[in-house]
Amino acid sequence: MKDKVSVIICAAGKGERAGFKKNKLLAPLYGAPALWHTLKKFDIPEIDEVIVTASEVDFEEVCALCAPLGYKVVLGGKTRTESVKKALAEVTGEIVLIHDGARPFVSKKLILSCVDGVKKFGSAVCAVKLTDTAVCARLGYITERLDREATFRVQTPQGFFTEDIRRAYELAGKNVYTDDSAVYGEFIEPARIIDGEESNIKLTFKSDFLRELPPLPVGGLTGFGVDVHAFGKKQNFVMLCGVRVPCDGGLVAHSDGDVALHAVMDACLSAAGLLDIGHYFPDSDPALKGADSGKLLEKVVALIGEKGLKVARLSVTIQAEKPRLAPHIDKMAARLACLTGADEKNIAVAAGTNEGLGFVGEELGICVYAVATLNEA
Ligand code: CTP
Ligand code: MG
Repeated sequence: MKDKVSVIICAAGKGERAGFKKNKLLAPLYGAPALWHTLKKFDIPEIDEVIVTASEVDFEEVCALCAPLGYKVVLGGKTRTESVKKALAEVTGEIVLIHDGARPFVSKKLILSCVDGVKKFGSAVCAVKLTDTAVCARLGYITERLDREATFRVQTPQGFFTEDIRRAYELAGKNVYTDDSAVYGEFIEPARIIDGEESNIKLTFKSDFLRELPPLPVGGLTGFGVDVHAFGKKQNFVMLCGVRVPCDGGLVAHSDGDVALHAVMDACLSAAGLLDIGHYFPDSDPALKGADSGKLLEKVVALIGEKGLKVARLSVTIQAEKPRLAPHIDKMAARLACLTGADEKNIAVAAGTNEGLGFVGEELGICVYAVATLNEA
């Protein structure tokens, strides 16, 4: 049977060194509290349970961030050691990763390699080699040179079998340690290090929030798509977002002319860094004559799936003087959810006329804009 994996996220500090008026973890980073980004990183199927430590002053705010993700929040202690000990009491998984809320740049790859490391070595502590020469100095003078090859900066996550690290913390009593590997090393055995990531920095000072930070798109990867089709087909409907909408004329196209799905496909392909739909579905291809654009979108979803991505959000705006679209909007969102696998509540479809202006206003055609946000699948 698969080991259950729990995660403890330490967020019960004061974050004083950063000099904000509140805990640094609740200060904004890319438009959301820094802690939010850390929490989101563990919202993956491989993690079964997340427990977050919070101080009394921040408790409510941390609970509000954790609620949509279904994470448990426990009251922390005066020191990180005390906070972790309290959280360990709540852990139900066989494996536990302990991570600083102040490290929002941890990657999914690192999280998974930490879990694998525990299974292989019994413990897994993310660490990176020093690039500078390291020395010890006392009273301003170098007293010792450290072997750079054997000197590491230790990060989190740090993973252990729960029963081992729990025992170590019990034995630690009231002693204070700077990290979990120190507790484990003192009472169980030397902890095993695995490769950390240079980008997995800990937000400590205000300057860490201001300097050029590693890319961390709030909602994933974003792409934009636009398409236009002209009226001119003798037909009493148009296809929009996979929905047949009655109309006094049809759109001219090689495929079924679903101008909205074409814009959505381009938005998804662009977000994934792929080429446009013309490349994958050329209108010179006789096999695509009258093609169901819904089927093409499913192929696009498969293509982005091969890159480890899935559709998280869609925002679609249709500009059309005719037909009247309001009664069909909900159906369109439901159809997009079905075709892309995205949650319907994350799909927005809007429609408007062009106030009689331009080719849309003159009822010569329909124009659709789409923005797609992709996340890791
Ligand atoms: N932490 C905790 N409980 C404590 C102290 C710290 O859970 N009593 C957490 C912090 O919230 C942080 C992590 O441990 O995510 C690492 O600690 P550090 O970076 O030192 O954060 P703070 O102690 O909050 O910051 P400072 O030392 O600047 O006040
Ligand atoms: Mg501290």
